[in-house]
Amino acid sequence: MKFFADTADTNDIRELADAGLLDGVTTNPSLIHKAGRNFLEVVAEICEIVEGPVSAEVVALDYDGMMREAEVVRKIADNVAVKLPLTIEGLKACKALTSDGTMVNVTLCFSANQALLAAKAGATFISPFVGRHDDIGFDGMDLIGDIRLIYDNYAFDTEILVASVRHPIHILEAAKLGADVMTAPPAVIRQLVKHPLTDKGIEGFMADWAKTGQTIG
Ligand code: E4P
Repeated sequence: MKFFADTADTNDIRELADAGLLDGVTTNPSLIHKAGRNFLEVVAEICEIVEGPVSAEVVALDYDGMMREAEVVRKIADNVAVKLPLTIEGLKACKALTSDGTMVNVTLCFSANQALLAAKAGATFISPFVGRHDDIGFDGMDLIGDIRLIYDNYAFDTEILVASVRHPIHILEAAKLGADVMTAPPAVIRQLVKHPLTDKGIEGFMADWAKTGQTIG
């Protein structure tokens, strides 16, 4: 499963990329607001740090506007994936952009039928939001299982990008269900490395090593 970071914070992105943990990045207007940076500048910087797809979301809601904004963001770098909302206008723009070789991430997916439409429109990625689905009393992971089944039934190439990830269990479940990609806040990706027995083990080994009185090198 590919790991994307769901952030526009370039310090976090650099750190995770240096650890070899990043296959891409997703941003959205809220994350750009949080970063407090110019949208086009920050996306350009992220595209230099990470080789994989970097999602940049358009804010127009009509087809012509989306295409105009997509033209601006896709010129930033070859690894930009234009992020479009799951609406008829968004799907129309998705079809046009992917037919032209541009990567598209269709976002704000909350049903398997929506994911089916995105695949039919040629989306490169579909982003089902599991956390926000959980928030309203549904199991977001059921959605991932359904989309996996449907995409496999019809051999769609669209990659399932599990989004709105809130904790490590979401990542574990996404991997078990065969999701292609997950995008999570850097803090959640860092949580994956933590295990109390790892910390306890290091502590024990360090204490015993100190008793040997030796050094390495
Ligand atoms: C995905 O591309 C979105 O940016 C993101 O995962 C939204 O997550 P949230 O529900 O935590 O805002």
